[in-house]
Amino acid sequence: MALYSEKVMDHFTNPRNVGKIDDADGVGEVGNAKCGDIMKIYLKIENDIIVDVKFNTFGCASAIASSSMATELIKGKPLSQALELTNKAVAEALDGLPAYKMHCSVLAEEAIRAAIKDYYDKNGIEYDKSQFPDEASEEELHAHEED
Ligand code: FES
Repeated sequence: MALYSEKVMDHFTNPRNVGKIDDADGVGEVGNAKCGDIMKIYLKIENDIIVDVKFNTFGCASAIASSSMATELIKGKPLSQALELTNKAVAEALDGLPAYKMHCSVLAEEAIRAAIKDYYDKNGIEYDKSQFPDEASEEELHAHEED
């Protein structure tokens, strides 16, 4: 069996929504301390809806495919729905990732959260702090690696 699904290969070789939004309403940047990969997500938000999203990922094939798929999954969706997106859902939408590559999809989930938090913070919008465990601690990054 091939290591990567066709969908992973498709999103890696032809990633959707790559780039930067200059007047983004929220920007989230996260990294994985262990592999050094970095993901940055830009959101354009109108009336609580993600009207546009772009990403820049300096990382492995799984991280790029995960960012591409995650941006497709949240585009046009309300923030509440984007906040519920899990790395597992991203991996499932890609028809799976090898187990030892699951941590790469965690970056996508975290970058989206970080961008939404940035939007809330910039606009003084109240939010449930428990939804944002905050910048992944060293411990958390480690935990994801075991995923
Ligand atoms: Fe670093 Fe995939 S190996 S995100």
